[in-house]
Amino acid sequence: MPDPVQSGTIAVSIRGITKRFGEVVALDAADLDVARGEFFSLLGPSGCGKTTLLRIIGGFETPTSGELLIGGRDALGDPPHRRRTNMIFQHGALFPHLSVARNVAFGLEMKRLPRAEIARKVEEALGLVRLGGYGDRGVDQLSGGQRQRVALARALVNEPEVLLLDEPLSALDLQLRLQMQEELRRIHRATGSTFIFVTHDQGEAISMSDRLAVMSGGRILQIGTPRDVYENPSRRFVAEFIGHSNFIEARIGQDPTTAEIPGGTHVPVRAPEGALPGQDVLVSLRYERVEVVEPAQGFLGGVLEDEIYMGPTLRRSVRLDGGLVLISEAGNTGAAERFTIGGRVGLRWSPGTALALRD
Ligand SMILES: Nc1ncnc2c1ncn2[C@@H]1O[C@H](COP(=O)(O)OP(=O)(O)OP(=O)(O)O)[C@@H](O)[C@H]1O
Ligand SMILES: [Mg+2]
Repeated sequence: MPDPVQSGTIAVSIRGITKRFGEVVALDAADLDVARGEFFSLLGPSGCGKTTLLRIIGGFETPTSGELLIGGRDALGDPPHRRRTNMIFQHGALFPHLSVARNVAFGLEMKRLPRAEIARKVEEALGLVRLGGYGDRGVDQLSGGQRQRVALARALVNEPEVLLLDEPLSALDLQLRLQMQEELRRIHRATGSTFIFVTHDQGEAISMSDRLAVMSGGRILQIGTPRDVYENPSRRFVAEFIGHSNFIEARIGQDPTTAEIPGGTHVPVRAPEGALPGQDVLVSLRYERVEVVEPAQGFLGGVLEDEIYMGPTLRRSVRLDGGLVLISEAGNTGAAERFTIGGRVGLRWSPGTALALRD
């Protein structure tokens, strides 16, 4: 993807934004560029500042310091309705006493658009979220997923350049949630708008986003495509927050493509640039990249201590001869079990899959 700043297609630009609530630093010098038309996610644990950042972009909160550009223009002085943004709030409620159509029409009525135009736009927005024909229903006669879609239609009807979505799917059960994820992606493609999507669900962020930012404690730790962030986490927090990894304290070997792990064995790693022999590192090794094999085929040996049946996968714990326990997760192929608990096994992984981090 071309650098959005270079190519001049930037939708939202955040420069050194800090937000303090008394003693609490909700955002700490956040920098972020979101390209026009991008599906961008903010991912991080509860309290890391996701909602605060979204509210600042939407104009519902003023930063303590920093700059915000929307479509290349300073937007901090503009009230929410003057920005080309629309926000779906984390705990946003519909008007329970109004029909679906009136809920969706609300923003347009405030703008005093002609009635016929409002009706046309409302019908269009309801069609987009697959609620055509539901206009006359009361919102109290809808399922949770349908309500969520009304909230979406209510934002989309204003044709925002930037749609801000604060955990819009978090209240839904798993099935409905997966369905709505598909719908959101379809709507994103159909409208061509920029979506900034907040979630604390890594799977959701990875499968839906063009790019994402991982946040912690008010700071943006890493920005990249889902693949970038998953394959090359910049630090332990990111590796821990996305996916499941073994973490091993290790030391870079004389051959810097290896590291010495506790017990004295050298294993293949991908070292950080400029890593020096003898340097302490933290090796991050995804569960699914560790292969349990016959003892003779592994470059590490140990005892299979435990196996958890997880349905689609099997998760195995192996205690290495040096004492360290590593976890492996492999697809459940349905084949007969080759390994017995308490028996000896080998472990191996492809060169380049174990990532040595500085912290
Ligand atoms: N109005 C406020 N007054 C005081 N502190 C606030 C206010 N709003 C947010 N905070 C604090 O700022 C920090 C970031 O809050 P924010 O709502 O942005 O987190 P979040 O990432 O959206 O979390 P969640 O996933 O739980 O929604 C938290 O420590 C929160 O307690
Ligand atoms: Mg929040």
